[in-house]
Amino acid sequence: MNYLEQAEEIAREAGEMLLAKRAGRPVVADTKSSPTDVVTELDRASEELIRSRIPAGHAVLGEEEGATGSGSVRWIVDPIDGTVNFLYGLPDWAVSIAVEVDGQIVAGVVNNVPRGEVFTASLGGGAWLGGERLRCTTGVPLEQALVATGFGYSAARRAVQAEVVAHVLPRVRDIRRGGSCAVDLCSVAAGRVDAYYERGTNAWDHAAGGLIAREAGALVGGMHGRPVGPEMAICAAPGLFEALHDLIAPLDPERDA
Ligand code: IPD
Ligand code: CA
Ligand code: CA
Ligand code: CA
Repeated sequence: MNYLEQAEEIAREAGEMLLAKRAGRPVVADTKSSPTDVVTELDRASEELIRSRIPAGHAVLGEEEGATGSGSVRWIVDPIDGTVNFLYGLPDWAVSIAVEVDGQIVAGVVNNVPRGEVFTASLGGGAWLGGERLRCTTGVPLEQALVATGFGYSAARRAVQAEVVAHVLPRVRDIRRGGSCAVDLCSVAAGRVDAYYERGTNAWDHAAGGLIAREAGALVGGMHGRPVGPEMAICAAPGLFEALHDLIAPLDPERDA
């Protein structure tokens, strides 16, 4: 089995476990960085299951348990991306698993469990939803672009994000806040939105979805030619990417918040 097949099998198994155990409203185990930043017992159970299936000797970076192991192969895991949607029974949350070899993401799976949609990509192998090859939209001018975004959990960061979205909203077709970065990136890949941007996402949020979007023809990057890091991430087809970048850049969203 190659890495993509392994990652897909694990993401499907975690999704089945989550659906089976999600009876009523799941229990909030804790809040993390702020009262809005919740983690449920099932986020932890999902990561535990995923880790138990990853081959011994591989490094893992997971949202709930952090970084373990070392070596050239690293699995990057978000056990539930969209925990708030999961908590409220909204239909966009996903198990996101990427495999990185020598610093390059080579496989990515985003299992949008409630919708029964499993997005996959391998480096150079295209992006897929079941048997359908995905392509992002192209040639969409900024003013006709449907743009997804998300908000972090700290009030200070949200204040900056609110300024940015107030600047973007009058200049695009509309804004969507779906609640899962991984699903947002897959939505760009599938042409369901034209672009996505967000400040402050982590590798586990965007590693798998970022590969899926790239393999569907989108650019995924940070500001001013930088790769996606802890700052602003933008995802869109060439042309729209630059237009959205230039719209956001003057607001200096990279400042600390
Ligand atoms: C969050 C989701 C959300 C995004 C946040 C992420 P979580 O991840 O991806 O859409 O706006 O920045 O932290 O906590 O649900 O795994
Ligand atoms: Ca979280
Ligand atoms: Ca996440
Ligand atoms: Ca998560």
